[in-house]
Amino acid sequence: MELKFTEEQLMMRNMVRDFAKTEIEPFIERMEQGEFPREIIQKMGELGLMGITVPEQYGGSEMDFTSYVIAINELSKVSAVVGVILSVHTSVGTNPILYFGNEEQKNKYVPKLATGEYLGAFCLTEPSAGSDAGALKTKAVKQGDHYVLNGSKVFITNGGEADVNIVFASTDSSQGSKGISAFIVEKDTPGFIIGKDEEKMGLHGSRTVQITFEDMKVPVANRLGEEGDGFKIAMANLNTGRIGIATQALGIAEAAFEAAVAYSKERVQFGKPIAANQGVGFKLADMGTAVEAARLLVYRAANLREQGLPCGKEASMAKLFASKTAVDVAIEAVQVFGGYGYTEDYPVERYFRDAKITEIYEGTSEIQRIVISKYLTN
Ligand code: CAA
Repeated sequence: MELKFTEEQLMMRNMVRDFAKTEIEPFIERMEQGEFPREIIQKMGELGLMGITVPEQYGGSEMDFTSYVIAINELSKVSAVVGVILSVHTSVGTNPILYFGNEEQKNKYVPKLATGEYLGAFCLTEPSAGSDAGALKTKAVKQGDHYVLNGSKVFITNGGEADVNIVFASTDSSQGSKGISAFIVEKDTPGFIIGKDEEKMGLHGSRTVQITFEDMKVPVANRLGEEGDGFKIAMANLNTGRIGIATQALGIAEAAFEAAVAYSKERVQFGKPIAANQGVGFKLADMGTAVEAARLLVYRAANLREQGLPCGKEASMAKLFASKTAVDVAIEAVQVFGGYGYTEDYPVERYFRDAKITEIYEGTSEIQRIVISKYLTN
């Protein structure tokens, strides 16, 4: 399968490439210091990137899914932070409303999300419900025309910054994952308490917070779907989310690989560029092969998704492989750079730190293997 993009997709690639070079690259240092890139998000909204696949009817750019993947790919090559902000905002912040919301909910929230006026987040994970997402403990009790939510969420990407949060809570704990419901929760709702902002190994500039709900009242009108639909809503949107994270990992791997190739041709030791040594050349060959394989898996999953075909297995395979590739290639890129690779003077140490999380969030590599093996054996 050859990757052949349409004129429109190539235009998207060039536009995002330029934007990443001129607007995001100069902002990286600020993100490394911990600044959340609000002004970048605003500009992405102006360019139509915050709602790439959202229908025009709801204020989006109504482009195909491959264009969305191309955008995440190009953004993540320059900044994995901006890549994950867009991926989470779109796949698990906006899409649950777009695909499972009623007309009123869609009209109220999607246009603001699609233009970047609002940012989205996904509140599923809890202190004792990470991989076992169905074991969440946050409770939603119906009282008249609203629910009262109590509980805690952790590791919420875009958390605290997001205006709209898709919150999962149990409306019937006797039903396990079938008793989970999904709610649209606005950040300024009384009882929505933003907690600890995690100090992370990498992805500096991406916000990851704890959130607590204390007697937080959410209108019944903000429930997505029926009571008990929550877990399926979470899982269905994670399929797309996992393609987004696989794409982010691909972007990191590509950046690390390209940096290693360029450096190995410039760096002279023992009278010749280090690329001329088979030890380095073989490393580059393995890195390049893995990147190519990751790219094919990512775009294959995207292509299935675009055609509306089942893609759960392929999304998990893409995430499993691309995240491992990002970690392996980033480690090897540091090795090619030698001592310089371990310093902050070159970006490969950032790729190394940013890569690791792709094997953890939106389902660890172990969870991806569970998902894939279920598809293979059922
Ligand atoms: N798509 C649609 N439906 C799905 C599904 C999918 N991918 N996976 C499961 N379901 C459905 C099943 O069909 C089943 O429905 P039925 O009973 O009607 O058949 C129901 O959901 C329950 O499925 P399981 O029995 O398989 O559920 P489980 O409790 O054994 O768990 C799991 C399955 C795959 C391990 C799941 O818990 C999981 O994906 N865990 C990982 C959680 C995760 O990815 N968290 C990410 C947090 S968000 C994040 O990280 C964002 C960020 O910061 C970047």
